Amino acid sequence: MTFFSYQHGRLCAENSDLSQLAHQYGTPLYVYSRAALEAHYRAFDEAFSGVAHQVCYAVKANSNLAVLNVLARLGAGFDIVSGGELARVLAAGGDASKVVFSGLGKQDAEIATALEAGIACFNVESAAELERIHRVAVSLGKQAPVSLRVNPDVDAQTHPYISTGLKENKFGIAIDEALAVYQHAASLSGLNVIGIDCHIGSQLTSTTPFADALDRVLAMIDTLAQHGIVIEHLDIGGGLGVRYRDETPPTPAEYAQALLGKLQGRTLTVYLEPGRAIAANAGILLTKVEFLKPTNYKNFAIIDAAMNDLIRPSLYGAWMDIIPVQPHTDIDKQRYDVVGAVCETGDFLGKDRDLALRAGDLLAVCGAGAYGFVMSSNYNTRGRAAEIMVDGDKSYVIRRRETIADLLALESVLP
Ligand code: LLP
Repeated sequence: MTFFSYQHGRLCAENSDLSQLAHQYGTPLYVYSRAALEAHYRAFDEAFSGVAHQVCYAVKANSNLAVLNVLARLGAGFDIVSGGELARVLAAGGDASKVVFSGLGKQDAEIATALEAGIACFNVESAAELERIHRVAVSLGKQAPVSLRVNPDVDAQTHPYISTGLKENKFGIAIDEALAVYQHAASLSGLNVIGIDCHIGSQLTSTTPFADALDRVLAMIDTLAQHGIVIEHLDIGGGLGVRYRDETPPTPAEYAQALLGKLQGRTLTVYLEPGRAIAANAGILLTKVEFLKPTNYKNFAIIDAAMNDLIRPSLYGAWMDIIPVQPHTDIDKQRYDVVGAVCETGDFLGKDRDLALRAGDLLAVCGAGAYGFVMSSNYNTRGRAAEIMVDGDKSYVIRRRETIADLLALESVLP
């Protein structure tokens, strides 16, 4: 986390002191580093510079308009999974012609809007979806560019909830059925078959599953060629992991190296859909300790963030580092469960953490830039946290804190 570091005993985001930011904007607060987002994006772009490629940032990881805008300015494309995400990309100045549309349940209106916007490709996940895209395209007098997302049946060796490339998963078209579906797609006038796609899971910490999946997809491309179906682009999905604790995921350069050798002699444009590896370590969640609560069994540090702000620990048992903004030197560490105020035993951000704490201290939950704010909710009628972006020694509100009035605004009582 080089963009978040201690300077003179205080944790900073780039050159901004996080305790100052907490004072200025309140907590809980998501803080992102522009420089980190840019560095992480460029690492992918440079790693694949030897081939024709397009990095399509997976919007679901962090869809704040400012985040999308920072990446759009660098030339990023985007991987979207809903009409809402397309609207965000366009509002953030993203280029529709660099957008790929993934996801299992695309609706007619979403398909129509994406066709009108002129996206690069639909990543199609079932034969039924293919028929729907064909029908909508014909009704608009258009041809939809499509890839089939094939399911290569490869074990991504990650958490079962975020593993997507096994035959028992709901995603993609089984690779042994793909030829028939491709042949059908090629016969439909509303479709232009241009690509192949696969995404096998998230938070992968080894290149082996990616390489195995690529072998299977390349064999599929050769089979398709034998049947007269020419594939122009290969979308290798996202999924590259990050370090939350002691993982040693490949760097984007190592990831590229493991894959690019297999592509020699082919004229394929490579699309990639990284989300987490760009956003996770570009953000932290800043939170304040409200109370310390020692009991006979455990010590609890009750903080002002909770599972509604950051659900990864509760949902996946994910371990995310929790570090002090201003470490104490005059008190000893004790073992704490760091918990929120939500009425669920599953509401914790960290368990058994050794921390030297006083009430009122600020803590940073690390690696919170991806699948953090985007998965937050209003459970317990808690307004969602504000988001800010740091750019050197400047900081900008990129989403204001929700008020109680915001939460009530969409509801009404019976007459
Ligand atoms: N492409 C597709 C089709 C995806 O489904 C995903 C993530 C990505 C790209 C980006 O994957 P990434 O590079 O971020 O690993 N909420 C979970 C992660 C869910 C990932 C879903 N799909 C978590 O917090 O760990």
